[in-house]
Amino acid sequence: MIDLRSDTITQPTQSMLEAMMEAKVGDDVFGEDETVNAFQQKVAEMFGMEAGLFVPSGTMSNQLGVKVLTDPGDEILIDAKGHIFNYETGAASALSGVQVRTLDGKNGKLETKILRHTKRGHFDWEPRTKVICLENSTNKGGGVCYTKEELSDIKAFADQEDLLIHLDGARIWNAITATEIKPEFFGEIADTISVCFSKGLGAPVGSMLLSSKENIARARRFRKMWGGGMRQVGLLAAAADYALDNNWDKLKEDHRRAKEVAQVIFDSKFLAVDLKKLQTNIILFDTVKELAESVVKKLMEKGIQMIPFGLNTIRATFHFQITDEDVEEVKTALAEIGE
Ligand SMILES: Cc1ncc(COP(=O)(O)O)c(C=O)c1O
Repeated sequence: MIDLRSDTITQPTQSMLEAMMEAKVGDDVFGEDETVNAFQQKVAEMFGMEAGLFVPSGTMSNQLGVKVLTDPGDEILIDAKGHIFNYETGAASALSGVQVRTLDGKNGKLETKILRHTKRGHFDWEPRTKVICLENSTNKGGGVCYTKEELSDIKAFADQEDLLIHLDGARIWNAITATEIKPEFFGEIADTISVCFSKGLGAPVGSMLLSSKENIARARRFRKMWGGGMRQVGLLAAAADYALDNNWDKLKEDHRRAKEVAQVIFDSKFLAVDLKKLQTNIILFDTVKELAESVVKKLMEKGIQMIPFGLNTIRATFHFQITDEDVEEVKTALAEIGE
């Protein structure tokens, strides 16, 4: 089976498992795991942030970001396609007591013209708008990335309006590969950043929240409160560190493979894709004459898995364990759709 449902389905490689076995570990609840301590420092420095906190999932690091930047009753702004709004089980309202206000951006991205006049909190009866949540690359937006100018604009707006920025960088590695924006630039833009090692980088588990020392100290308490304090977690940090050092470089190949497959979709009379949107490892494409579910079923019968992403939309996601031979099979199967 060629599994294009998500870039989260990778299997750990032998060399990654060996790196895990060699990790020097200790009890991280006591702050004594040297592998995780060094890894947190390394990633924080990479993004020009003071500190990092290794956590089990991107959901936890996003939610810790929201938690440390807000008070109950505050409002956070997010594009309607945002992961924090759609796929985190309502956690922002349950765990931080905040109101999530969605805005209709473009391909999952917000822009200053949409954000203008959204800030509230001037009167007792209004919620206090506190945080702008950005996602880069955008998952539900089809892997689209922010440009440096767009981010600078949003940051200038946030400073002017006294708003904070949380960046969901689950696929920041893909965004950096595609746009060549330096990691430390994101540290200048955002107050908190969540990055994931368990997507295209291929680690089995692990995300990290990056921020100031003060915010990370607070996040560490909430992580414990939410049951995420882990003991010899250096084992997992070693896998994530291995993934960062060895697999980041492979993402450009994923992007190339996605483009090749998207071209076949573009050429099909039965499928449609906007090639301009294709920047990273995610293809969002439409079915023209059939429901997405029916096309997904036909592909499944040919040994290819994708995910329906709406009535007429399908998502295909690439990662380093999808080979060029797999890509040829996928291209043939897609070219046969509708025949
Ligand atoms: C954009 C984005 N943010 C956050 C997450 C959450 O990550 P996790 O599944 O590790 O909780 C995902 C998961 O796919 C994602 O795509």
